[in-house]
Amino acid sequence: MKVKLLSGALGAEISGINLKDSTKENYEKINNLLLEHKVIFFRNQDITHEEQIALAKNWGPLENHAYVKGLDKHPEIVRIIKTKEEKNQWGENWHTDVSYNVKPTKAIILKSIKIPPVGGDTCFSNMELAWETLDEEIKKKIKDKKAIHSSLGAAFFVDSYKGMQGHEKRNYDEYSNEHPVVRTHPETGKKILYVNWTYTKQIIGLEKKESDEILKKIFEHQARLDLTCRFNWTENAVAMWDNRSVLHYAIADFYPGRGLGYERIMDRIAIQGDQPH
Ligand SMILES: [Fe+2]
Repeated sequence: MKVKLLSGALGAEISGINLKDSTKENYEKINNLLLEHKVIFFRNQDITHEEQIALAKNWGPLENHAYVKGLDKHPEIVRIIKTKEEKNQWGENWHTDVSYNVKPTKAIILKSIKIPPVGGDTCFSNMELAWETLDEEIKKKIKDKKAIHSSLGAAFFVDSYKGMQGHEKRNYDEYSNEHPVVRTHPETGKKILYVNWTYTKQIIGLEKKESDEILKKIFEHQARLDLTCRFNWTENAVAMWDNRSVLHYAIADFYPGRGLGYERIMDRIAIQGDQPH
């Protein structure tokens, strides 16, 4: 097995591991890599939907997406499609998946199906490091607070993306929950800065104005390049990330307006998480 670090902050590209092998032994090896590097990548993994599902089930029960419809045959798999004409792409800007749920996703296994010849990288940011390096005054103010995470505006994702479909029942406004601003990782015990630009609306117990100012500073801090790594996709690559301890950002830099209108297709599986504490 070879481990190539992607940056000093987080992320590693792993070779010499077979993802078709869903034994407990292989799972433990991969989970240790996941906890250590927070996001791990594997290239040239020609795994089927069934094999991707079997691999993911090692981490626990799978989760159907709150508002995006899965594949007919495999509802656990959401096919993320950016069509050639699409100006945006799903997952643009910093976020952790479905943090507006009571129990946000534990981990994601994403497999690339079709990748543009240029652009479409994904960035990740290490939220343990973000907490460690956050301004001490801000830390003191927020360490015991909770924040509201809301999916309001989620209709945008479904209605605006030509290639993707929502559930028939349109109950987007149901997803709003409170989580600690600093959560503890259930497996490593590490502190994690758990707010994000996309879904966190307000810190509870602060005036809206002060909450807005602090969140703005935190969001800028989380996007610091020295906390991040960047993965350049190839087809048949698999990324797996710990959705509790990283933020991610799908870069939509293959603009139709620049003559770079490419299709990008990914298959996503999510594993159910715990309630943050
Ligand atoms: Fe995402």
